[in-house]
Amino acid sequence: MSSLSEIPWNELRERAIRAAATSYAPYSNVHVGAAGYTTDGRFVVGANVENASYGLTLCAECSLVSDLIRNGGGRLCAVSIVAGDTKPIAPCGRCRQLLFEHGGGGLLVDNGPDAAPRHLHELLPDAFGPDDLPVRSTK
Ligand code: THU
Repeated sequence: MSSLSEIPWNELRERAIRAAATSYAPYSNVHVGAAGYTTDGRFVVGANVENASYGLTLCAECSLVSDLIRNGGGRLCAVSIVAGDTKPIAPCGRCRQLLFEHGGGGLLVDNGPDAAPRHLHELLPDAFGPDDLPVRSTK
């Protein structure tokens, strides 16, 4: 299940907005919330967690993936990622790869209520993923 009309976009956005309010971002003050919808109809959420050692910051999508795995796993079919202004924010490069692992190129990424969602394969073309490992291993 991942057809556009079946995704509860409004609820997904609201959950991302609520998640952003839980973020820990005292250094950048960029509060990011992420919400995901699974192929079996569950919601998962995450928020960014910064660190005084800046490079250790966990993005909201990282936290969302933890929530997914902690709650039984499954596949993501849609995500909404917003900043504290409640508007969509583009996932960073690392997070595109994190999302690819759990949703693949067909994962729909929210682009706001006035624009079509984008597939992850547009944001991360020619992605390297789990399917590449067995065919590229020389062992
Ligand atoms: N951030 C995310 O949480 N996700 C992204 O995809 C982009 C960036 C966070 C990390 C950091 O806490 C803040 O935004 C500023 O970079």
